[in-house]
Amino acid sequence: MNTIELKNVSFNYDDGTPALEDISLSLASGRCYVIKGPNGCGKSSLFRILNGLSFPTKGEYFFKGTAVTPKFLHDKKNAAIFHSKIGFLFQDTEVMLFTGSVEDEIAFGLYQLGLSDEEVKSRTGHYISALSLEALRRRAPFSLSGGEKKRVALASILAMEPEVLIMDEPLSGLDEDGQSWITDALKSLKSPERLLLIATHNDQLVREISDQTILMDKFHHIVN
Ligand SMILES: Nc1ncnc2c1ncn2[C@@H]1O[C@H](COP(=O)(O)OP(=O)(O)OP(=O)(O)O)[C@@H](O)[C@H]1O
Ligand SMILES: [Mg+2]
Repeated sequence: MNTIELKNVSFNYDDGTPALEDISLSLASGRCYVIKGPNGCGKSSLFRILNGLSFPTKGEYFFKGTAVTPKFLHDKKNAAIFHSKIGFLFQDTEVMLFTGSVEDEIAFGLYQLGLSDEEVKSRTGHYISALSLEALRRRAPFSLSGGEKKRVALASILAMEPEVLIMDEPLSGLDEDGQSWITDALKSLKSPERLLLIATHNDQLVREISDQTILMDKFHHIVN
């Protein structure tokens, strides 16, 4: 059983706009997949489905063998377990940041996981230093630069230590140093227990990190 299975998934937005057409995918733990495709092909829409933010119009999504449906996620316990296993870095990291300080931002998700104060403190400290955020720890996330926000959003997700990490354009808006820095950080996340899924237009990142590239076309299909 693969961690993520999509069976003939199609997705249309409420206004009828098609975003995914008959997508079947089988993604295994321990591998890094990169999704490439033109603007508007459906990458972010696919990620919304994988994270339970939208549901297929047609077809089915199984996470570790369980069908992810509105009914399944309506159950708070199911939703909490599901969200603790999948970390999602949005394309627009702006929408992810909402607390008063960088350290609160990282701690927030950890409290949601039900971790003890002590564990929250220790993980927050660890990921602040892992992503070089020491100088920013008391700053308000909204006041940071785009690249700094991206690092904070990434730290918040990594601190939750999810077994599946889905990242939508993790390098967009970063300068060259930032890109190479985050590329190295992402490479270090590869592990036999973890599934990485990344949408990117950055060929350097694809070369450095991808075990398998998934190609989408403008008709919202997977082509390989
Ligand atoms: N909220 C929405 N309502 C209606 N249509 C939408 C919505 N969000 C996206 N779409 C449409 O769905 C299609 C797929 O969009 P999506 O954002 O998934 O593409 P993408 O591959 O992530 O593109 P990009 O490379 O620009 O990030 C596009 O035609 C887009 O216009
Ligand atoms: Mg997108």
